[in-house]
Amino acid sequence: MPAVSFQGVAKTFTGARGTLRALDGVSFDIERGEFFGLLGPNGAGKTTLISILAGLARATEGHVSVMGHDVVEHYADARRALGIVPQELVFDPFFSVREALRIQSGYFGVRGNDAWIDELLEGLGLADKASANMRQLSGGMKRRVLVAQALVHRPPVIVLDEPTAGVDVELRQTLWQFIARLNKQGHTVLLTTHYLEEAEALCGRIAMLKQGRIVALDRTANLLAATAGSVLRFKTDDVLPADLAARARVTGRIAQVSAHDAAEVEQILARLRASQVRVEDLEIGRADLEDVFLSIMQGGAAAATTAEAHA
Ligand SMILES: Nc1ncnc2c1ncn2[C@@H]1O[C@H](COP(=O)(O)OP(=O)(O)OP(=O)(O)O)[C@@H](O)[C@H]1O
Ligand SMILES: [Mg+2]
Repeated sequence: MPAVSFQGVAKTFTGARGTLRALDGVSFDIERGEFFGLLGPNGAGKTTLISILAGLARATEGHVSVMGHDVVEHYADARRALGIVPQELVFDPFFSVREALRIQSGYFGVRGNDAWIDELLEGLGLADKASANMRQLSGGMKRRVLVAQALVHRPPVIVLDEPTAGVDVELRQTLWQFIARLNKQGHTVLLTTHYLEEAEALCGRIAMLKQGRIVALDRTANLLAATAGSVLRFKTDDVLPADLAARARVTGRIAQVSAHDAAEVEQILARLRASQVRVEDLEIGRADLEDVFLSIMQGGAAAATTAEAHA
């Protein structure tokens, strides 16, 4: 039995301006103990899929189960198996951190779990904030409390919807250490994030959603291997020729162009020379998940992995 199973999930929103098919036949399983990444651009449908998993929204079509419990028919069992860190910061300003965690435990009928609450506070760097009021916390600290709240009942399946948005570097590392430890202990993790280097480092398998459909699903290593092998990175103040500009990833004065092999690297360099683009700090590196993501979202590559997603 998989930890999470999505079968033919569709979701249509109907509003004044017509209907929107936010999810369009999403099917895949997450096995127990996996660290699974769900990636996609803004509006791809990630949070909608998680809302359906959490029982907060109803699928228009299809079925979803958690640890064998259908999220509609056996809502309470399914919900108890899940720890969900929501994308939006929602909290009750009147309680202290510890109170909020005790109240959350109460929702799941868990009592006398103060030792675990202390461990959560410690592991998430909140120990010195235990008696602070929720409204006194900074945004990043509130997000850490949301993570702790999701874990109070020790759910076998942990779902994190952009848990590191707005969280500083040090804290991201603390958070990932903690989640990775839980994953090693057997907890299944489903993560959405826009920090693709986090997904690359943490997730064993990754699904990519685009406009409500799975467009790639494979082991992270296979996704990396299937797309462009190398990336040329350099700084320049000059304008790139149109053909290179169209395929380059530009951040300020840093440009990155991916290449499949050494011959292509050679071609790109020749093209830069011919168009008199002055280049500084040139380096050739391995393609990372961001390159893979962009190439898949732009509609290239990964046909083979798409087929697997529907298998
Ligand atoms: N309650 C709703 N009513 C109408 N449309 C909605 C509703 N919730 C989401 N949508 C639409 O469904 C689509 C998917 O939204 P969703 O929040 O699932 O995206 P996402 O992948 O989580 O994006 P992000 O990376 O920005 O969090 C979007 O077009 C969004 O506008
Ligand atoms: Mg979202």
